[in-house]
Amino acid sequence: MQQTILITGGAGFIGSHVLDLMVKKYPDYQFINLDALTYAGNLENLKSIENEPNYTFVKGDITDNDFVQNLFSHYQFTGVIHLAAESHVDRSIISPTDFIYTNIVGTVNLLNAAKNLWNGDYEGKRFYQVSTDEVYGTLGEEGLFTEETSYDPRSPYSASKASADHLVRAYWHTYQMPVVVSNCSNNYGGYQFPEKLLPLAINNIKHGKNIPIYGDGKYTRDWLWVKDHAAAIDLIFHKGVTAETYNVGGNNEWKNIDLIHLLCKIMDKKLGRPEGDSAKLITFVRDRAGHDRRYAIDASKIKRELDWEPSLTFEEGLEKTVDWYLENEEWLNNVTSGAYQQYYEQQYV
Ligand code: NAD
Ligand code: TYD
Repeated sequence: MQQTILITGGAGFIGSHVLDLMVKKYPDYQFINLDALTYAGNLENLKSIENEPNYTFVKGDITDNDFVQNLFSHYQFTGVIHLAAESHVDRSIISPTDFIYTNIVGTVNLLNAAKNLWNGDYEGKRFYQVSTDEVYGTLGEEGLFTEETSYDPRSPYSASKASADHLVRAYWHTYQMPVVVSNCSNNYGGYQFPEKLLPLAINNIKHGKNIPIYGDGKYTRDWLWVKDHAAAIDLIFHKGVTAETYNVGGNNEWKNIDLIHLLCKIMDKKLGRPEGDSAKLITFVRDRAGHDRRYAIDASKIKRELDWEPSLTFEEGLEKTVDWYLENEEWLNNVTSGAYQQYYEQQYV
């Protein structure tokens, strides 16, 4: 079926991989990428598809309600894949308000625009909210987040995403808008802004700078290669059951300190440094406020119902990721110039 799909936040990390996959895979669909190009958005991430005839970029802010309503009238979207967000926990601790506007108000603007455009005729329509496992809060040593786990967000970032998820589900219950939600674990891969742990550590190791590890380093995350998340998003958008939630994860838990040791080993090899050299850069620093101890996803529903599972082992994915950052030196230099330095000073020095 001919579709016109709005992708929000397509110039960011995950959005750019989703567009790279879907624009090439569905030449009969039109894709409109709406992105405000905040510090995290970068058109360089979209070089692989920028000239494709079924792709259009629109610069705009989802918090601007009039703009969003006009965009929906103009393009007559049949589907929305909503990724635009303020996405970094540490920034949400420094300035929570930006997260409320973009993640909550922005989502409501999109929901209202879809509701007005579709006007109760929901045949062939879909609003897909891309969310995070952080809405579930924190785990102890045992257990996994399932789709039934109660929300218990604990950072301004996760609270704003949780609020948006609730609103999306409310539009299903109240207006029967055909929505679907996924909650994914930590992604890694190329084009991730180097404020997040892995690209930050890769960049610092490359430049011989300290690798900051918060607290005791025993905080645990479940890591998924970003292209596997993009494949899951494509599948959920097309095959996910309306009003359902899908947890997406890598079955791949790592304590931060163990993950960084593995990374250091790979980087020593790639950079031709003596083994153990990069690990000397590991520096324990002040902990993040309210730091969630452990996230881990039970991804059995998406495996059982949609036959999705991660395609790579973590060692393969991490090696590919290190190669990507070493080969894309110019990209890394461009995004770490200017405002990045200011943020780095504020956060770490
Ligand atoms: P990102 O920060 O790399 O990208 C966000 C994009 O949204 C940027 O291009 C930015 O310019 C755009 N944006 C921000 N505010 C905007 C606004 N007001 N209007 C329009 N565009 C705006 O984020 P990401 O890591 O690619 O995450 C994408 C989505 O996936 C987010 O909703 C996030 O909550 C979710 N998610 C991320 C992860 C992860 O590990 N990165 C895991 C699970 C879920
Ligand atoms: P991050 O990449 O910010 O993702 P999230 O907080 O969304 O899980 O952080 C991943 C983990 O790494 C988290 O436990 C915080 C920790 N961390 C550090 O130890 N040092 C750092 O410099 C950063 C950015 C994160």
